[in-house]
Parts: sequence; C-alpha cells; structure tokens
Amino acid sequence: MKRLNLPIKWKLTLWYSLILASILILFSGGVYIYFKNSLQKSIDAKLKSIADVLSTAIVETHGASVFSNFERYLENVLGKKPKGKFIQIMDSAGRIGAKMSDIDAETLPTPFSSIERALKGEIVYETIETYSRQRIRAIILPIVDREKITSIVQVGTSLEDFDETMKRLLIIFLISIPTSIAITTVSGFFLARKALKPVDKIRRAAIKISSSNLDERIDIGEKRDELGRLATTFNEMIDRLRDSFQRINQFSIDVSHELKTPLTILKGETEVTLRKDRDIEDYKRLLKSNLEEIDRMTKIIDDLLLLSKADSKDILIKTEDIALKDLIIDVCMNMQIFAKNKGVELVLGDIDEVILKGDELKLRRMLCNIIENGIKYTSQGGKVEVYSSTNNGYINIHIKDNGIGIPENDIKFIFDRFYRGDKSRRRESGSGLGLSISKWIAEAHRGTIEVTSAPAQGSLFSVRLPL
Ligand SMILES: Nc1ncnc2c1ncn2[C@@H]1O[C@H](COP(=O)(O)OP(=O)(O)OP(=O)(O)O)[C@@H](O)[C@H]1O
Ligand SMILES: [Mg+2]
Repeated sequence: MKRLNLPIKWKLTLWYSLILASILILFSGGVYIYFKNSLQKSIDAKLKSIADVLSTAIVETHGASVFSNFERYLENVLGKKPKGKFIQIMDSAGRIGAKMSDIDAETLPTPFSSIERALKGEIVYETIETYSRQRIRAIILPIVDREKITSIVQVGTSLEDFDETMKRLLIIFLISIPTSIAITTVSGFFLARKALKPVDKIRRAAIKISSSNLDERIDIGEKRDELGRLATTFNEMIDRLRDSFQRINQFSIDVSHELKTPLTILKGETEVTLRKDRDIEDYKRLLKSNLEEIDRMTKIIDDLLLLSKADSKDILIKTEDIALKDLIIDVCMNMQIFAKNKGVELVLGDIDEVILKGDELKLRRMLCNIIENGIKYTSQGGKVEVYSSTNNGYINIHIKDNGIGIPENDIKFIFDRFYRGDKSRRRESGSGLGLSISKWIAEAHRGTIEVTSAPAQGSLFSVRLPL
C-alpha cells in the first residue's frame, strides 16, 4: 500500500478526529441502547402491574360483574381511569369479553400465536402495529383461576411517547457528534499548525545556511520545549561548522603564505643572478640557496601531508615493541651535531629501560621535533637535558632546556598549526608545524604532551605515554 505523504499537521488532525469520532459514536451508541432498554423495561413493568391487578381482581370476583360496565370496573380496580391504554379481556377461546380503549385503535391486531402462547400459561410481551400505523406495546397475561386458565387479559399502551423520546435522543446525537468532531478537527488543525510553525522556521533557516553564510541563526523565541531544544542544537551545530570553516580558511591562508615566502626568495634570487653574466661560483651559490628553499618547501609539504592524513584518520600507527632507551639515545646522537653547531650542550640523563608498544618512526619524529626545538630556542652556551620517569603505567619523557622560554600567553597556541612564537625570527624558527605533529603522534599513542615554561628561564616539555 502506498503511504500517504500528508503533512504532519494533517496527520495529527486526522488521527485526532478519527479517535474522537470512534469514542463519541461508541459512547452515544451505548447510551442510546441502554436508554432504550431501560425505557422499554419500565413500560413493560407498568403493563405487567396493571395486568396483574386486573387478573387478581377478576380471579377474586370469578369474572362476575366484569363485563357489565368495564370502564367503571377498571376505574374501581385500578383506582383511576387508565389513560392512553388499551385493555381487553378474552375468554379461553380467544373471544373478546370486555374491552376498553383510550387510544386511536378500536382493536389490536393480535397474532393468534400470541394468544395461543398465553393460553399455555406464558406471559407474552409484543410490539404491535395498528391499522392506523400506530405502535403499541402490549402484554398478554393468562388469568389462572383454581389452576385453570379461565381467560386472558391484554393490556396495551401507545409507544408514541417512547418513540418520540428515542427520536429526540437520536437527533441530539446526530447533531452533537458531527458538530463536536468538526470543532475538534478545525481547532486541532490550528493547534497542530501553531505547534509545528517553528519547524518551518527551522527549515527556512536551514535553506539559507551555506558555507558562506554561517552567521544565520534560527530564532524561535524563548521556547524550552522539544522544538526549542532542536533549534538550540541546530544553532550550536552551525557554530561548530563556522569554527571549522574558519579554521580551514585560516589554514589555507597560512599554507599559501608559508609556500609563497620560499618561492618569492627563489624567484628574486634567480632574477637578480640572471640579470648579468656571472662566474660559476655565483651560480653555485644561487643553486645552493635555491636548494635550501626547495628543502624548506619539501619539509612543509611533507608535514602538511602527514597532518592531513592524520586528520582524515588515513594513517596506520604501527604497534611494534620499542626499546625506548635505545630510541632516545639514537635520537640524541643524531641531534648532537646540530647542538654542537649551535653551541648548546645536549645531555642524556637517566632513562628508564622500558619496552613501549608503538610506531618507532613516528615516535622518533616526535622526539626529534621536541629536542630540535630545545636546541633551536636555546642560546649559545645553554643546555638541553633529556631524562625520563615512570609512574602508574605511564612513562614521562622530559626535555628540559634553559633557553628563551615561552611567554605565558603563547603556551596555549604553540601546538597550533603554523604557530610560531618569536615573530621577529620567523624565518629561522621553521614552519610552526613541528609541535602540531608531535602532539598528534603523542595522542595517536594515547599519550599527552605538557609544557611548563617561563621566558628567559627555559622550558620543560613532558611527553607522557602509556606503557
Ligand atoms: N623549547 C622551546 N623553547 C622556546 N620556545 C619554544 C620551544 N619549543 C617551541 N617553542 C615555540 O613554539 C613555537 C612552535 O613550535 P613548533 O616546533 O611547532 O614550530 P617551529 O619550531 O617554529 O617550526 P618547525 O618545528 O615546524 O620547524 C615555536 O615557534 C617557538 O616559538
Ligand atoms: Mg619545531
């Protein structure tokens, strides 16, 4: 079956009205039937009581003076003139003995079978239609005298009032049910529409939002209901999206800038050199300088590639057993030449002999970056010390220098991409990607990097890795 794609407000209204209609119809039907039954029962009881009184009276007088003046007799027995009733007495052969009628009909078309049943001792109730189409409820009661059915009494009453009452009740139901359904449908529709209005607002706001229009916000007022919370969640999501877009934008600007500087230098130097004929030494110097810039660009691109892959979770971190002490000694040996050139002392302190699960190449890169920073940002005659400590399942590798230190305001930024603290020495310092990469490597090994530093006093980088 094909599903109807009705709007929610219609669906709500429809269900609402359907349920209400069923309840009303069931309820009214119940009321109607109950009312009809009890009214009929009370009519039958009244008929039976009249018939009973008559039957007792006839038995007591043995039918004597009954037939001479029936109406007077009835008035005597019943205490008053029976209004709107039809009463007749028949003998055991079905012949009418006495009759009184206060209704339109002079005779009742009583089926013979009913009389037969009464003659067998049964009390018969029946609804009869007269020749003038009037509905009569009647009782036929056998009169038993000395254990013999001597005659039968028939008492009838017009059902006009009863029919009229039932008709009125039906009319009330027929008017009130559709009216209340109509009122509920209309008001339900408006209520549903009002309640769902914010959804449309959210939809329209969502249409307007694009990467260039992330300042758009959904405003549905001070609502604290589900839709209010939805709008808030939506707005928060746009905030996060805007932040990411801004970061990506900034990142692109930084990348272009970073690559543009070496290219400008390459171009400038090459142009100047080509302006006139030069001797071979000049060309060699140019090419050497060009090579430096190309190396710098290659390094930036390599770093960026690594970070992008890290972002898209494209990198596999190997888990091999690494003897950490050997790795640190090896890195420090490699760094010795750099330290010596810079006039900085690189000291290897106590290193715990532990086996670590991880990616050796990546960890080597991280250590290189941090130790290189220590050397780079320490003036001649300074000292960089590498040592370790373990505590509850973690190893801490400390790289401590007594160099230029990092201003307090800068510390929270140093792990950002392209961030370089000392703006006056930008070219010397590097591209500003080293610590971002190191941080990612530490985190990929479920570790952290912490820094404590004070300007002119030195810095302490602590890498914490789980064992
Ligand atoms: N040991 C340190 N002492 C003082 N400042 C430091 C130290 N380590 C890092 N910094 C500051 O943090 C900044 C970011 O470091 P990061 O290693 O990310 O970049 P970089 O060294 O400038 O360039 P790259 O490492 O990519 O060649 C540095 O520019 C520097 O200002
Ligand atoms: Mg660095």
